[in-house]
Amino acid sequence: MSNNDRRNWQVFLAALLLTGGISLLWLVSTPMSDDDIRVPTRHTAQLAFALYILVLVARPLQQLLRKDWTAALLRTRRLIGVAFAAVMTTHLGLIAYRFGTQPELEYPLFSLLFGGTAYALFYLMLITSFDGPKKALGPKKWKFLHRTGLVWAALIFGLPRSLEDLSDPEYLKFGIPFLIALLIRFAAWQRSRRRSS
Ligand code: HEM
Repeated sequence: MSNNDRRNWQVFLAALLLTGGISLLWLVSTPMSDDDIRVPTRHTAQLAFALYILVLVARPLQQLLRKDWTAALLRTRRLIGVAFAAVMTTHLGLIAYRFGTQPELEYPLFSLLFGGTAYALFYLMLITSFDGPKKALGPKKWKFLHRTGLVWAALIFGLPRSLEDLSDPEYLKFGIPFLIALLIRFAAWQRSRRRSS
């Protein structure tokens, strides 16, 4: 096993055990009502979002700032992505537990399909973060897959569902960091365009 693959496994298992363990400790310390299950479900989504933003800005920040910390962030980007997949796995585990213990719960089919597709993309991204599958896929398809996954996640994390969302703090806690990340990416893109022309 290569060093990259070993690090991937270490980070995936550490992030899974940490978020899964904390969620479990929280759950057993509560009456495990629906609200209690939704607390770690929301927190895992929030943590995954923070990791997602880091992945999104790693390269543009390095292009814009060229500091030691931005170079380190870019070098760590793959492992941040792996940690993201682990945290989203805990999110999935909590969702499965919630539906398993409350079979009467209903969830809109469209959201289930959209979220399910996101998970399919995240796990393909995770698998192709390992050396062998990455090589087998080839650089063009790898880039396409990872871009598609990032855009799909953006639709869930960053897109307002209605105009009212634009003044709702529950949306803005995702919307504002997402907008800042997009502006950083845009600034880096502008600079590379100016340089190449
Ligand atoms: C079919 C798959 C999914 C289901 C059934 C699901 C279900 C849930 C549930 C039950 C909550 C808690 C909601 C509440 O407390 O009212 C939640 C929160 C959340 N989930 Fe998921 N989820 C899915 C997939 C995803 C994916 C793929 C993402 C991101 C790419 C995501 C991002 C979020 C976010 C951003 C929150 C809100 C966190 C907050 O309000 O602070 N979910 N999800």
